Amino acid sequence: MKVSMTVNGRLVNGDVEPRTLLVHFIREELALTGTHIGCETSYCGACTVHVDGEATKSCTMLAVQAEGASITTIEGMAKGDELHPVQEGFWERHGLQCGYCTPGMIMSGAALIAGNPSPTEDEIRHGIEGNLCRCTGYHNIVKSIEYAAAKMRGETPPPADWEEVSV
Ligand code: FES
Ligand code: FES
Repeated sequence: MKVSMTVNGRLVNGDVEPRTLLVHFIREELALTGTHIGCETSYCGACTVHVDGEATKSCTMLAVQAEGASITTIEGMAKGDELHPVQEGFWERHGLQCGYCTPGMIMSGAALIAGNPSPTEDEIRHGIEGNLCRCTGYHNIVKSIEYAAAKMRGETPPPADWEEVSV
C-alpha cells in the first residue's frame, strides 16, 4: 500500500504491507533508528514519536494509519548543532544511563511541556508513566524535564542535586 507522510519536516512516501507498524517504517524504510523498539507490545515507550504533535507509541500504530500525518522523531528535535531544550536537559541533568529509553523519554517529555509549560514533579512523573527505564530510577529524568521546562519558559533551570547552592 502506498503511504505518504511528513517526517521531521520532509515529505516521505513508501510502499508498505498493510500490517507494517509505523515504528518499522520509521526505522527500516526511513533509516531513522533513533526511535527504539523495546517491546513492540505498547509497554515500554521506547518507540515514542510525535504524531501531529501528540506523543504516540509508534509500535501501536500502522504505517498506513499515519497517512498524511506530521511525524517528529528524535532526529527532528535538534536544530542543527543546537539541542532541543529537553535534549539539553537530559545532558545537563544526567537523565540517562544506557540510553535505550532516552529517545522515547525525550519525545514524551517534550510533548508534556508543550501541553503544560510548568509541570509539577507529580505531573512529570504522570506524563512519563508510559515510558519505562531499567537504569536510572527516574529521578534524573524528572530533573531533566524540569530543567527543560524552565529553559523553555525563559527561566534559569533549578540547580542540579550535585551543585553547591550558595546561600
Ligand atoms: S516498542 Fe513500542 S511501547 Fe515498547
Ligand atoms: S537509561 Fe537505560 S533504560 Fe533508561
